[in-house]
Amino acid sequence: MKKTKSSPEAASPRPPAFLYRRDQLCCEDVPLAQLVKKHGTPLYVYSASAITQRFAQFEKAFAGVPHTVCYSVKANSNLQILRLLAKRGAGFDVVSGGELQRALRADRGAAERVVFSGVGKTGEEIEAALRAGILLFNIESESELAAVAQRAAKLKKRPRVALRVNPDVSAGTHPYISTGLHEHKFGVPVVEALRLYRQAAREKWLDVAGVSAHIGSQIMDVTPFRDAIGLLVDMIRELQSEDMKIRYLDVGGGLGIPYHPHTPADDFGARVAEYGQVVMAACSGMNLHLLLEPGRSIVGPAGTLLTRVVYTKRNEGKRFLVVDAGMNDLIRPSLYGAYHEIVPVSRRAAAMKAPRVSYDVVGPICESGDFFARARELPPIEEGELLAILDAGAYGMSLASNYNSRPCSAEVLVTGRKAQVIRRRESFRDLVRMEE
Ligand code: LLP
Repeated sequence: MKKTKSSPEAASPRPPAFLYRRDQLCCEDVPLAQLVKKHGTPLYVYSASAITQRFAQFEKAFAGVPHTVCYSVKANSNLQILRLLAKRGAGFDVVSGGELQRALRADRGAAERVVFSGVGKTGEEIEAALRAGILLFNIESESELAAVAQRAAKLKKRPRVALRVNPDVSAGTHPYISTGLHEHKFGVPVVEALRLYRQAAREKWLDVAGVSAHIGSQIMDVTPFRDAIGLLVDMIRELQSEDMKIRYLDVGGGLGIPYHPHTPADDFGARVAEYGQVVMAACSGMNLHLLLEPGRSIVGPAGTLLTRVVYTKRNEGKRFLVVDAGMNDLIRPSLYGAYHEIVPVSRRAAAMKAPRVSYDVVGPICESGDFFARARELPPIEEGELLAILDAGAYGMSLASNYNSRPCSAEVLVTGRKAQVIRRRESFRDLVRMEE
């Protein structure tokens, strides 16, 4: 029989970050209910070991070749998480001046491991990155190429640049997080890229050093990666034959995680290893330095959002759990119809034996789209109970907002028995500070 991720303790070669011990859900060695007592809800909790283990699995998969794992800051930009990764040698993929500053604040020496992507880099952002001396600019248009060349000349810096190529492969993922088709705003088509490379090579102040791509996010199958990288490698051969010194291949991020409990139990190490094989095989013998930009696959399963059931409610036959977290805390279900597993923080024996109940788990925000799950089968849940929304470490807090004047959640990082507040809960004063 196929093993399924039917509960957080489903068999896995590495212990998942969240496990029940005597019916209490724990993060590493800390019971989550204990953290809530101290810090309240909604509360994001992350496992430091899960983050560092997943990063180490990337490192191991690519150990055979020169590479830098540039963690994608947008997935979770908390400084302590960036520091945790920087200490292990991670680089960073940034897409704004703010993310660049975060990376540098986490590690003053990080610039040489920073890649900068994004379709709308402003003049100021370009100058900040030039001054910092980043590893690679991933350029996404002819106009941006001109802007970088002009600013580089002005500052007398010679940045390494790559063009972000849009390989026109379908990533088979949600349309909002798929980026590699011509209809998307990202990158430049292959033919156009060749022309721009030739143009860039004539610029005195540009070091044409790489080729980059990112085809989308939450990709569970290696085939789209294989197709895209094959195309990039052909292109690199062509550029090298024209005497361009291409040394870097940036393959972007995008490796998915199994959010759904019915997906087969995940052996992340094996999956990254397979991904590594595909990437390395495509460019073997080419003497390239590989750049990887994983975000979700490093932090996603390492985080949970804890929330308390404020009310239970029935409308006709429909049953609701109204919780104290909202779409402002975790927008993925509202925005992408994303699935997040939801489990009780404390398992009550009677409830576990009782028949499951179908609930809509909803937040307090004045939008019908403010939900975490619809028609979700759960053990009977009572008012005041705590729920854990799993796999919320990526694109949770980083997409949080203050909609409905709700202060952002606190964040806690757990290492073994230690729990550290890595972002304090916002207060009403924080919300109005900029307006008074
Ligand atoms: N590199 C680039 C250029 C990207 O645009 C992204 C993600 C990544 C790397 C990291 O991709 P990852 O390894 O995390 O898949 N908010 C959406 C995901 C948006 C992804 C945007 N770009 C979500 O919650 O699913």
